[in-house]
Amino acid sequence: MKEKVLLMLKQSQSYVSGQEMCNALGVSRTAVWKVINQLKEEGYVIEAVSNKGYSLSKTPNTITEYEVRSHLEDSAFLDQIVSYEVIDSTNVKAKQLANEGKNQNLLVLAEEQTAGRGRRGRGWSSPKGSGIWMSLLLHPQIAPQNASMLTLVSALALVKAIKEVTQLEAQIKWPNDIILNGKKVCGILTEMSSEVDYIHYVVIGIGINANTTEFPEEIQPIATSLQLAGNKEVNRAELVAVIMKHFERYYERFIKTEDMRELQEEYNNSLVHKNQNVKIINGSTITEGIARGIDTDGSLLVELEEGRILPVISGEVSVRGMNGYV
Ligand code: BTN
Repeated sequence: MKEKVLLMLKQSQSYVSGQEMCNALGVSRTAVWKVINQLKEEGYVIEAVSNKGYSLSKTPNTITEYEVRSHLEDSAFLDQIVSYEVIDSTNVKAKQLANEGKNQNLLVLAEEQTAGRGRRGRGWSSPKGSGIWMSLLLHPQIAPQNASMLTLVSALALVKAIKEVTQLEAQIKWPNDIILNGKKVCGILTEMSSEVDYIHYVVIGIGINANTTEFPEEIQPIATSLQLAGNKEVNRAELVAVIMKHFERYYERFIKTEDMRELQEEYNNSLVHKNQNVKIINGSTITEGIARGIDTDGSLLVELEEGRILPVISGEVSVRGMNGYV
């Protein structure tokens, strides 16, 4: 009902009369009035003028299900979107829904996470209202060993969507990070439940510092946001919708072959370390070489001093620039 009222307000060039809404929705004037008040509480600015009706003059920058849907093109890819004001972690929620039997493509969104999870057991700062904290639940029928490439597919979609919405040229720090001006703007945490040869589900968790302007001290040197980099507030719901549009396209191309052959070149063009010296850190072992790009299986090809090419598999190592994080 809230969604329908909102849609009528958004579609109308001027005022929508209360009676028009009652007729269209088959409810009483009081019911419409209640919904209008709920929307106002969520940050929508709605003017009410007697004899004319209601008019929407401002939409809040939120990532509720209906705001994201209002920017989504028609597509059968996403079966369901669920959004929360506050949640522990969207990845945890997506896994819970999968374990409860949700077997569709589902997107979980949150304005705030109280226990946001990063890679390698680290936390992920997820303050209210400024970032995009989202998890995509999928059930791909691919070999489990190919699932880690979904992180690379997501990274491509993020770079493309950031460019479309903000005109900023982000880059990929293989395999999980998106970089702007040498600092991290997004992180990806892909998790999977599988048997040796069968995937139950994959959850792709994406954290984007969209309009964040302040970071906890410990990540200040390596973190940035789209707003800081572009000097402009980003419409978060639009960005989510554009990410999903591009993800769907890249995903379809990936799933055909279960490898990166069609996406390899585009991926390598966005690689922040392409043809640069990197350190590959594997526990206490550090190997140096030049990052040449990904192979079709998603591994990072690193040229060692003696000329040998070392394929680096994600999950086992950290890649660093020679002087720090990038
Ligand atoms: C990383 O770079 O360490 C990965 C960070 C991933 C963070 C996102 S935010 C949405 C989703 N829910 C989580 O708890 N984590 C991911």
